[in-house]
Amino acid sequence: MDQQPPPATTHAVQPIGAAAASFLAAGPKKLLIDGAWCAARSGKLFETYNPASGAVLGEAASGDKADVDAAVAAARKAFDDPAWSGMSPHARTRLLLRIADRVEANLEELAQIESLNNGTPLSLARLMIAGVAETFIYYAGWSTKIYGETNPGTPDLLNYTLRQPVGVCGHIIPWNGPLTSAAWKIAPALAMGNTVILKPAEQTPLSAVRFAELLIEAGVPDGVFNLITGYGETAGAAIAGHPGIDKVGFTGSTEVGKKILIASAGNLKRVTLELGGKSPNIIYPDADLDAAAAATLMGFCFLSGQICVAASRVLVHRSVHDEFAHKLAELTKTLVIGDPFDPATTMGPLASREQFERVKSYFHIGRADGARVVTGGAAIERAGYFVQPTVFGDVDNAMRIAREEVFGPVTTLIAFDTEEQALRIANDTDYGLAGAVWTRDLATAHRNARLLNAGTVWINTYAHTDLISPFGGLKQSGIGRELGRHALDAYTEVKSVFAKLG
Ligand code: NAI
Ligand code: MG
Repeated sequence: MDQQPPPATTHAVQPIGAAAASFLAAGPKKLLIDGAWCAARSGKLFETYNPASGAVLGEAASGDKADVDAAVAAARKAFDDPAWSGMSPHARTRLLLRIADRVEANLEELAQIESLNNGTPLSLARLMIAGVAETFIYYAGWSTKIYGETNPGTPDLLNYTLRQPVGVCGHIIPWNGPLTSAAWKIAPALAMGNTVILKPAEQTPLSAVRFAELLIEAGVPDGVFNLITGYGETAGAAIAGHPGIDKVGFTGSTEVGKKILIASAGNLKRVTLELGGKSPNIIYPDADLDAAAAATLMGFCFLSGQICVAASRVLVHRSVHDEFAHKLAELTKTLVIGDPFDPATTMGPLASREQFERVKSYFHIGRADGARVVTGGAAIERAGYFVQPTVFGDVDNAMRIAREEVFGPVTTLIAFDTEEQALRIANDTDYGLAGAVWTRDLATAHRNARLLNAGTVWINTYAHTDLISPFGGLKQSGIGRELGRHALDAYTEVKSVFAKLG
C-alpha cells in the first residue's frame, strides 16, 4: 500500500474575517418563524463543529414538532396573505434579485461560515456561494415567464390553464453544499409564489441562519421564509409528515428519501428527492487518458468526494487499465490536503465525525471484500476528519464498495473488455444519478449517452452542472428534477379553467 503523506501546505492560513467572527461570537442561533427570531419551544440547543479541527463552532436551536407546527401556520398565513399571493411576478423578480444582491454583498462571510462548518476549501466555498446568487438571478427571470395555455376546444367553451404555486414547501437539505442545495429549492419555490420552511442538516446549521438574515434584509415578507434548525428524526420528520405542508424538496440519503416518501403519503405531498449515486465513469481505450484521469480525480475528490455525482465507479477497458490506474494514483499526489482556509488547499476534511467513521469503515470493507488498495486507504494523522484519496483496484461490481455510496474521496476501478459489458456493469446498480463516457468516437459516445441509465451523462468531461439544465436521478437516485425550467414543474400546479361562452 502506498502510504503517501499529505503534501506540505505552502501558504499562510487565512484568518477568519471580522464579519464571520462576529456572527459566530453572537451566541446560539435561533429559529426564524413568521419573521421573528425565537428559541426552540423546548429551549434545547445542539452543538455544531468545525470538521477541520473537531472543535465546537457554535450552537443552534434544536427545533422539533412544536416549532414546525408554528412555522407551518406562519407559512400558510403568508401564502394566503395578499402581501405575498397578490405580489406581481415583476415584484417577485425584483425580490429574488435583491436576495442575489445580499448574497453577493456578503459572499466572503457566507463562504467562511460554510467552510468552517463543513470543511469545504474556502476557495471552493466562494465559488459555491457565487453560484447561490446566480441561482436566484436565474429564477428571478422565471417569475414573469411561466405561461399557461389556451386550448383548442369546442367554440362554446374557453379553456385555459393556470400555473399556480403549490403552497407551503418544506425543504430538507444536507451538509455537503448546504446553501447550494437550499438555493436550488428556495429560488424556484419563491419565484413561483410558494412559501418555504427550510431545515438545514444538523451538522451544518450556521450558513442557513446567516442566509435567513439576508432574506429578511432583502424584504422577504414575514412567514414567506421560515428556518427550523434541528435534527432529522425530530424537525425533519415533523416536516415530512406534516399535513399542512404541500410539498417536500429533499436532498440526502436514499434511506431517508424513502422515509420521506412514506411520510408524505398522509396528505399526498408533492415530493422531489435528490438522493445518492454510484456513478459509472467509462474509459474506452481510445480516450484521452490524461484528461480522463484528471477529471476522474476531481470527480471523486471534489468536496472530499462528498458529492452525489461522485465518480465512484471507474470502468476501464482492460487494455488501458494499468496505465490509467497508474496515472490516477500519481495524480492523487497533486492534491493539496489541508486547512480549508489555506489558499493552497484543494481538498479539506470530511464534513463530520460521522462521515469520517463511515468512510474509514469502507477502507476496511473494501479490503475485506478482496479489493486491492492502489493508493490511500487510511485516515491522515492530524486533528480533524482528514482521509487519504483512495483508489481501489481489482474491484468486482458485486463488492460493497462498488454498490454502496461511500461519500468520501474513494473510487473503484473495474476492468471491462467490451462495450456491451461496460454498459451492463454501468447500469447494474440501484442508482441512476449520473454517468460519463470517455472516447474519441462520436458514435460510441452518443450511443452510451443514450444507453446509460442516469439523469445526467457527461461525454469527455465530468461533474458539469448548469442552472439552466435539469438535474436529478433515475431509480433510487431520486424523483423529479431540480434546476432549469424543469424545477418549475415541481413548484407549480396546473389548473384547467373552462368558461361557457354561450
Ligand atoms: P441524511 O439523509 O440522514 O441527512 C440529510 C438531511 O435529512 C438532513 O437535513 C437530516 O437532518 C435529514 N433527515 C435525517 N433523517 C430524517 C428523517 N427521518 N426525516 C426527515 N429528515 C431527515 O444523510 P446523512 O446521514 O447526513 O448522510 C448519510 C449518507 O447519505 C452519506 O454518507 C451519503 O451517502 C448520503 N448523502 C447524500 C447526499 C446527496 O447529496 N445526495 C447528501 C448527504 C448525504
Ligand atoms: Mg442520516
